[in-house]
This record gives sequence, C-alpha cells and structure tokens, in this order.
Amino acid sequence: MYNKADVFRLYAQHVSSAKPAFFEAAGIDFALGRREGPYLWDLDGDRRLIDCHCNGGVFNLGHRNPEIIGALVESLQALDIGNHHLISEQRAILAHRLAESAPGELTYTVFGVGGGEAIDLAIKLARGVTGRAKVVSAKGGYHGHTGLALAAGDEKYRAPFGPLAPGFSQIALDHADALERIVDEETAALLFETVPATSGIVVLDTEFFLKARELCDRYGTLLIIDEVQSGLGRTGKLWAIEHYGVEPDVMVIGKGLSGGIYPITATCFKAEHEVVFQKDPFIHISTFGGAEVGCPVALKVLEISSSPTFLGNVQAVAGIFATGFEDLKAKHPDILVGLRQLGLMMGIEMANQYCGPAFSRAAYDNGLLSIYANNDPRVAQLLPPLTIDAALAEEIIDRVDRALGVVETMLAG
Ligand SMILES: Cc1ncc(COP(=O)(O)O)c(C=O)c1O
Repeated sequence: MYNKADVFRLYAQHVSSAKPAFFEAAGIDFALGRREGPYLWDLDGDRRLIDCHCNGGVFNLGHRNPEIIGALVESLQALDIGNHHLISEQRAILAHRLAESAPGELTYTVFGVGGGEAIDLAIKLARGVTGRAKVVSAKGGYHGHTGLALAAGDEKYRAPFGPLAPGFSQIALDHADALERIVDEETAALLFETVPATSGIVVLDTEFFLKARELCDRYGTLLIIDEVQSGLGRTGKLWAIEHYGVEPDVMVIGKGLSGGIYPITATCFKAEHEVVFQKDPFIHISTFGGAEVGCPVALKVLEISSSPTFLGNVQAVAGIFATGFEDLKAKHPDILVGLRQLGLMMGIEMANQYCGPAFSRAAYDNGLLSIYANNDPRVAQLLPPLTIDAALAEEIIDRVDRALGVVETMLAG
C-alpha cells in the first residue's frame, strides 16, 4: 500500500509531471481512494466527497453499483474478451437491446471502447455512406481526443498536434441560420452533442435540432448525435434527444454504458447505412470494442436506466434542484446567474470566468466534486449520480450554497 505522497510522486514521475502540480496549485490535494455509491474518499482516508462530476456520466448509477458488479461477476464465470472477428452471442444480444431502446430506426450497432473511437466510427460511416468529406460541428463542442473526433473539436485541443484534418468546420452553437448557410450537397455529417457539456451544459433550442434534421433531409447528410454524456437517463429521458422530438441517423453512446465498471461504447445507426460494411465486413474493427465479458454489464445498465421508476426519480430529484437554485439565486444575486438544466445534467452559471475555478475549489472544501466547464469557465458542471434521493439532493444544494458564499467573498476581496 502506498501513501498519498508516494502516489503523487510516482504519478508525477511516470504518468504526468504536470497534473499533480496543477491540482496542488488549485488546492485540490486529492488522490482517489475508496469509492461507493455517490461518494469518493481521499486515499489517505479522511476526506469524503459527493461525486457531482461522475466522470461525465460514467457513474450515472453510482460507484460500484452492486447490480452492475453482480452482472460482471456472473459474466466472468464464463466469458472473456472474445474474438472481434467471430460471431458473438453477447454482442448480438446487446445490439438487439440497443435497437429496441434507441430512438427512431437505429437498428445496427458497432461497439467500441472509448467515446472518441465511437465518434470516429460515426464520422467514417457518414463519409462512407455519402462519399463526401465535409463534417460540421459546434464551436465549444467536445467529442474526444482521437483522430476524427479531435478534428471535430475546438482548435485548442488539436493545435499542437500537427496539420488539421481536412473537411471539418464549426458553427456557433444554437445558430440555426449559421447551419443553414454552411450545410450543402458536399456535407457528409452534422455532429452535435445533445446537451453540450464542455461548453457549459448548454440547453439548446428545439429549433436548432429541427433545422439540423431538415437540412440533413434536404441534402442527404447524416445527423450524428453525441449522447456520450447526455444519454442513459441523465436528462430524465433515456436519451436526451427525445426532448427534442428529432430522430438522428447515428447516435453515439459511451461513458455510462460501462456502468462505471467495464468500458464499452456504441455507435448506433440505421439499417440503410450499414451498406458501408457489406462489401467488406472487416473494414472497421476494434479488438476490445464490445468485449464479450462487458456486454452483460451494458445490458444491465440499459435495464436499470430505462426503468420508469429510475427515470421518475431523475425527474423528481431534478425538480428539487430547480427549486433549490431559485432560492440560491435570490441569496447570491451577485455571482449566481442561474442553473442550466435538463434533468440532472446541470450547469451552475456564474458571473464571470473566475467563478468556475473558484467554485471547484470551494466545492471541494465543502465536500463536493464539481468541475468547471473547460470551454466556458463561468459554468460549474453539476452531474450527481442519477441514483441519489431527495435528502442527498438537499444536502448537495446546501453545500453548493456554502461554496457560492466562499466564491462571493473571494471575488469581493
Ligand atoms: C460528449 C462527449 N463525447 C465524446 C467524448 C469522448 O469520450 P472518451 O473520453 O471516452 O473518448 C466525451 C468525453 O468526455 C464527451 O464528453
């Protein structure tokens, strides 16, 4: 067993030299130790945080959810990774279940390991289907750090890494007019997060998605919806795009599908687009994508996340936050602008860009893990596990209240 100082030292020597220094400078002297349900403990034992980051939705069902662990333990009795070239019972069953639960006609799935990989495949699919190169995404959007996903994201993440991949352009979020101007018969895909998270939990207008759908229909372009953070019940519906009544051509699922236990992602798409894989079914492969031992875990996640009781709890708890934040707004008028919210996908919008980093620190000191949005540091992301009850929601609001008080004092001083 290593103590925390050893871990910080080894991490700095062998994983990242800059990260430990960053966290120490930020006053967040924390290394992940025990974790259970909504809670995280520091490696040295004493400090306990309520996880309001959840790794962007990985821990939708809390940490070490017993039902999820049970599914993995059971599958470990008989399964392993499997062979990605062979026909697989587990992948077939999971893809069938995804087809039943996905919006619209998304009846095929290609599995991956990470969200970036799943986005890459979505873009490959769109290019393969249309024979076009152009991909349009949103400024401030985030889809991962792999090849095509990186190219669809903001320049700051790709600038140091060589020439830009051609064919990618970005428009201002929520601008239906900008979309109208940029999409044409050369456009392979529109790619948007349903609720852009790294941009600060932006709740987009229905108009925007309706326009995106209309343009895709007009030009034969594929609409790719990134539900990596917003899917699996986070917004009070199984898929966030259901709030908008728009059917995507491709939907990408990641993070929470793992149950926080076994990494797996899914790119779901329409049968008519599967044509890309017909000539050569080995044209896209991923050794660990949809590893067989993890498929029963994802099945269990889908079963839990689609239950009406589970989704009802998300909606009820979301209501508690909505009310709580109205009170907090009256109490902290100088810094709290409001709560951006779709279910339990929440962003605390504050007065200026100093507030997000200050809030993350103050939240930490008050027992909450909340990380500010990298592409809009006015906003602190608030993504508690979806399994929390009313009492814990009230406790979180209370701790947010105290953290806001600290930020207020800091900024006044
Ligand atoms: C909306 C969204 N899409 C894609 C990704 C990439 O997922 P991964 O980190 O698993 O590659 C992320 C990761 O944070 C994300 O938030």
